[in-house]
Amino acid sequence: MTNLNLSNNAFPNEIDDSSETHRLIPGGAHTYSKGDDQFPYVAPRYLEKGDGATVWDRHGQSFIDWTMGLRSVLLGHNFAPVSEAAIAQIGRGTNFGRPSYIETELAAELVELIPCAEMVKFSKDGSTTTTAAIKLARAFTSRRYVAYCSDNPFFSYDDWFIGTTACNAGVPQEHSDLSLPFSFNDIESLEAQFAAHPNDIAAVILEPCMSEAPKDDFLKKVRALCDREGACMILDEMITGFRWHLSGAQKMYDVTPDLATFGKGMANGFSVSALVGRREIMELGGINHDKLRVFLISTTHGAENHGLAAALASIQFFKANPVVDHIWNIGQQLIDGMNIAAKELGVANSFSAGGFPCRPEYKCLDKDGVPSAGLRTLFLQELVREGVLLNYITPSWSHGDAELNATIEAVRKALVIYAQGLEDGWKNLLIGDPVKPVFRAFN
Ligand SMILES: Cc1ncc(COP(=O)(O)O)c(C=O)c1O
Repeated sequence: MTNLNLSNNAFPNEIDDSSETHRLIPGGAHTYSKGDDQFPYVAPRYLEKGDGATVWDRHGQSFIDWTMGLRSVLLGHNFAPVSEAAIAQIGRGTNFGRPSYIETELAAELVELIPCAEMVKFSKDGSTTTTAAIKLARAFTSRRYVAYCSDNPFFSYDDWFIGTTACNAGVPQEHSDLSLPFSFNDIESLEAQFAAHPNDIAAVILEPCMSEAPKDDFLKKVRALCDREGACMILDEMITGFRWHLSGAQKMYDVTPDLATFGKGMANGFSVSALVGRREIMELGGINHDKLRVFLISTTHGAENHGLAAALASIQFFKANPVVDHIWNIGQQLIDGMNIAAKELGVANSFSAGGFPCRPEYKCLDKDGVPSAGLRTLFLQELVREGVLLNYITPSWSHGDAELNATIEAVRKALVIYAQGLEDGWKNLLIGDPVKPVFRAFN
């Protein structure tokens, strides 16, 4: 069980020093979201072990984990049915010179579950699949431009997307010039891009929703516009997949894209992603047609057997248990508990939780109502002292009443200090610097 007995003076990170990691690894982590600049100074520098909804550092300090592997761990850390399936597969070998049976078995599961999936291509990460979807759409339509939803923070580390952000060093302008922004729930902004680039937009890519739900049939309007203009509609379901609905948010919102991408959550943290979609488009990457060949995702480790076994076991568990209902329910209780605590402590004008219950969010605003990285970091700092990691909130099957109640209690304690920071300024209360945006031109 979680150890919440960190003393108020304990700063978990002081035991570990990450300078050697930064000497050896640019950024000190393998996604920028895990970097030191994303966490309060007092956060643990490293984690060694996870079980259920708890993680430990090497020194035995434990934390209730709501970050859950950047939202990839939907069932829980070291979740027995998944770990056992992966280990059993490792015992049979991890990679062969011909396809393994499990590739077809897992592809068949996805085709049965996901409305737009007629064919499936596996990979190891989300970025590869969104980029592959763009490439397929360009080949299918013989067009150049991509319209992307600029309210969605991230689609890929590849040039077509990262070149559009503030962190665009190393990307020739010509690449990002082909990516055209539009806004979520604003169909006119997408219509304007089609009007400005007639017959030259290959794809429209967006997440089905983030904090905001689609309004006025927005997704259906995007679908109709893509049909009218001859562009491919791509839904990035990296976050929504298996979390909003077992069959993806496309099922929930009753819209069928041409292509969709899945990753986080489908294999409980194992490295598995999938590009799925219409046969006519996907088949361009096949070897049984006489059109121009598209060199679609082709990687040595793409179908690593134990990852696929973990995905299959995860999906079987999702199908047999009310996982989606549970995470919506636990997330709603957490949102409610955080808001009640904020009200009780008189900071509800500054601190509030909301968003979709399966992916709750919280805001930390200064007295002028402006988002405050300082207050947010102070809140996170105090939670770390209480043994909770809450940079972002990922309810999982393993989060139960114990984790929920302990977290709400920790939030209440953190908000006492937060209230002081709001009143008197956070600078004297915060150790280290506020967290920084990931997409920035300079450090
Ligand atoms: C919506 C979305 N698309 C794509 C990606 C990229 O996935 P990956 O980090 O596996 O490359 C992410 C990752 O955060 C994401 O949230």
